[in-house]
Amino acid sequence: MEDATVLDFEFEAHPNPVSAEVLAETLANPGFGKALTDHMVVIRYSDEKGWHRPTVEPHAPILINPACAVLHYAQEIFEGLKAYRLPDGGAALFRPEANARRFNDSAERMAMPKMPEELFLASLEEMVKADQGWIPEIEGGSLYLRPFMFASETFLGVKPASEFTYMVIASPAGAYFKGAESVTLWASEHYTRAAPGGTGAAKCGGNYAASLVAQAEAIREGCHQVVFLDAAERRWVEELGGMNVMFVFEDGSIQTPPLGGTILPGITRDSLLTLARDAGITVREERYGIDQWKADAESGKLREAFACGTAAVVTSIGKVRGRDFEFTIGNQGPGLVAQKLKSDLVAIQRGRAPDPHGWVKRLF
Ligand code: PLP
Ligand code: COI
Repeated sequence: MEDATVLDFEFEAHPNPVSAEVLAETLANPGFGKALTDHMVVIRYSDEKGWHRPTVEPHAPILINPACAVLHYAQEIFEGLKAYRLPDGGAALFRPEANARRFNDSAERMAMPKMPEELFLASLEEMVKADQGWIPEIEGGSLYLRPFMFASETFLGVKPASEFTYMVIASPAGAYFKGAESVTLWASEHYTRAAPGGTGAAKCGGNYAASLVAQAEAIREGCHQVVFLDAAERRWVEELGGMNVMFVFEDGSIQTPPLGGTILPGITRDSLLTLARDAGITVREERYGIDQWKADAESGKLREAFACGTAAVVTSIGKVRGRDFEFTIGNQGPGLVAQKLKSDLVAIQRGRAPDPHGWVKRLF
């Protein structure tokens, strides 16, 4: 077996990279997920050869057979993390080992091969080195990295594939919710995201496919994001379409739904809980009902609620709407606790504050 703990990536430079003018224009206003960088990482896997032939090559469309397994049975997983420019001009990733672990947890759930952690980390480093000129210098700018793996075997039988392709693509990123000081959520009553025993804790494309109709409903209702309730009782708050959720109470304590297999174990979630505990804040990982959320928001017992994730960082929730209710939170603007946690987190991520937990991985 060729197994590529082989960390020697073959490099093929893009023959026609984007021009300096277009790049400058793109980086001045990157948005989220629109522009893609010049290169991509590709690593192949087969049961016979293991992981092999890691390359950095020009970003380009790929050719797959219409019978490619992922197109039929959605055996696909992904990750999302950001590369940040450091004050001295270097670049760093934030807790990439945690993404490597979650990627392998997702792989296990989806009957896919695990990737050696050092190969996953090397792939990110190669990607950032190749396209470091794409890290936006604007406030809040970063290079969003999207590692993913899909079943690339050409075969229509329903079984775990024996061939997979792993890739990393990158996209310059600014704010996910552009121009929004706080967001409005749509509480989905009809659709749920994940059931006990399902794939809710895996970062697989299928979870997002299943969430899109609810997210579309949220947009139609004039909301930014959908918030899902649990599949069994349709009562407990789980998470948003692409973020975890946290609540701040009048006594200063913070609560967030527990990890129980139906929500994504967010790395931002874990980091904020750690920072909050460091600051002496009482933190609870406990279920919170939508009725209680409404009652606490109305009584003032709940002071803040916010969304957290790699793309959204920390974004306050101003209002929640459902089929027959609507309530607002605090003054509907950014909450003080959310702002403080966000600035503490961002300062560590960008190398502007000490890093007591060793979260920042300098690449160069
Ligand atoms: N929940 C969902 C459904 C997500 O897509 C994300 C984003 O990746 C998160 C939570 C937050 O996870 P993280 O903080 O690791 O980005
Ligand atoms: C991320 O934050 O990395 C996600 O995958 C969420 C999505 C909204 C882009």
